[in-house]
Amino acid sequence: MNVLVTGGTGYIGSHICVELIQAGHQVIVIDDFSNSKPEVLQYIKDITGKEVKFYEFNVLDEVKTKSVFKENHIDSIIHCAAFKAVGESVEKPIEYYTNNLMTTLIVAKMMKKYHVNNIVFSSSATVYGDPEVVPLTEDCHLGDTTNPYGASKAMMERILTDVQHACPDMSVTLLRYFNPIGAHQSGLLGEDPKGIPNNLMPYIMKVATGELPCLGVFGNDYDTPDGTGVRDYIHVVDLAKGHVLAIEKYNTPGVHITNLGTGKGYSVLELVHAFEKVNGVKINYEIKPRRAGDIATCYADPSKAKKELGWQATHNIEDMCRDTWNFAKTHLK
Ligand code: UD1
Repeated sequence: MNVLVTGGTGYIGSHICVELIQAGHQVIVIDDFSNSKPEVLQYIKDITGKEVKFYEFNVLDEVKTKSVFKENHIDSIIHCAAFKAVGESVEKPIEYYTNNLMTTLIVAKMMKKYHVNNIVFSSSATVYGDPEVVPLTEDCHLGDTTNPYGASKAMMERILTDVQHACPDMSVTLLRYFNPIGAHQSGLLGEDPKGIPNNLMPYIMKVATGELPCLGVFGNDYDTPDGTGVRDYIHVVDLAKGHVLAIEKYNTPGVHITNLGTGKGYSVLELVHAFEKVNGVKINYEIKPRRAGDIATCYADPSKAKKELGWQATHNIEDMCRDTWNFAKTHLK
């Protein structure tokens, strides 16, 4: 298949490109490097021995996006391009809504115009809000999102669902990611956030390299076994493989919604201690007040992905910690 990956040089997009190529697909990427680096294209080639066809611009540029659809026969789209920093989205709601919603509308418009009937969308467990029950199944109630980033993900899901209803030949897949961490086993691809990281694993990584002095653990008074927040961490390579199966198997018309998680929750301190143990490094941390908008516990029921896609996470928390550090040692020092 010819697959267009928007945001294909980003943390998740780059791992998806590798898995697509290794599964025998041809990959076309649009990315503006707003949160990634050009070297990633070479790393994808180093790992797979194949090049992606690359276009450098923001999908917001409708004229350029249209020319990509005109020049290429596209069978399927994996739409990852979006702004994703929760805190920044609170400061810049206009930029977040414009970027995330408009790009999705432009992609949907091009699909309709050029008769591309298969799209997989990078969604997030954030659409469930504060869960009423865990583990979360796909038919759980969609909750109140607590920030413009989360709200934009819920809106993008809605836009694509409405488009599918109006274009019944389309297959729209909404993949709800839990907490992707880890890096490619080669050590070439991983998450390299600009500035001070918002998310836990990138922060741990920068404390481990000495770039940041100490991790703040946001709250130890949650209703969890050790009082710190519990999340379903999933290896980014498992997540990427889920996308390949989704474009291959969800090719029947309809809206397909699937969680991508492991089904197991780890607390902040469990992740810190696993990282220390696997990698033989010390992570300084101190307990800080709770972070606004955080929830106590969130993990997936991944049984639908297993049943419908034959997908299951194969990497454990130790693999995630080892691969993150392997990437960090070579790329972040
Ligand atoms: C957050 C977003 C989610 C987004 C995801 C990936 C919220 C409410 N959710 O998920 O929408 O899809 O990032 O971008 O913002 N923690 C610390 N110290 C830190 C950082 C985090 O203790 O420096 C804790 C948090 O309180 C939480 C856990 O680590 O308990 C995971 O946090 P994080 O990695 O930011 O992910 P989420 O908040 O689950």
